[in-house]
Amino acid sequence: MVSVAIDGPAGAGKSTLARRLAAEMGYIYVDTGAMYRAIGLYALRAGKDPKDNDAVNALLPQIELRLASIEGEQHIYLKEEDVSTAIRTEAAGMAASAVGANPAVRAFLLELQRDMAKKQDVLMDGRDIGTVVLPDATVKIFLTATPEARATRRWKEYQAKGIDTPYEEVLADVKQRDYQDTHRVAAPLKQADDAVLLDTSELDFEQSLAAMKKIIAEKV
Ligand code: C5P
Repeated sequence: MVSVAIDGPAGAGKSTLARRLAAEMGYIYVDTGAMYRAIGLYALRAGKDPKDNDAVNALLPQIELRLASIEGEQHIYLKEEDVSTAIRTEAAGMAASAVGANPAVRAFLLELQRDMAKKQDVLMDGRDIGTVVLPDATVKIFLTATPEARATRRWKEYQAKGIDTPYEEVLADVKQRDYQDTHRVAAPLKQADDAVLLDTSELDFEQSLAAMKKIIAEKV
């Protein structure tokens, strides 16, 4: 099986680029951030603090997380409910970052993620795919951009969706999430030794896509 691991900080364009690449290559796209977001959302809805590991761990046995591909789009379910849209809020992103620091949550999701890569060719994006989840991935790309470039993109996405969040707030969230993701003990965000670094600060979508295709074509 071929696996492409794409890691990097929030807002580097991983999911948009990965989704398009997977569609073009005929691979299954696995958005691991969505899994952490779903668990974060579950904790918030249960009235628990996502940073409280014991409280979140007590919830894990009841969490029925399911992924399904509908017309090429990944949908994520908590039991029967499609939470693909509900997980896209800033609050769910922060909660995801908090539960992502919890080793029991990471172990819970690791198995699910490895299982998916065993069965089919995947393009998997996250924070620890090249370092922990798929250390033997065929291709590893570390996708990054400056915090300002990432915050600007995220802010534009929100504007397009009619969500009116001040830019300063988005930038502060990007920086806080970077801090949380790089400083945690469990699987911190870092570039794998054998990953190719791609900085998209100065690249638009098509240029980033072309750069990724070139990196992948060298290995697949
Ligand atoms: O990529 P996305 O912004 O949806 O991820 C949400 C959060 O989930 C990240 O900030 C990160 O803390 C966590 N995450 C993780 N490991 C992954 C994917 C996401 O810890 N493989």
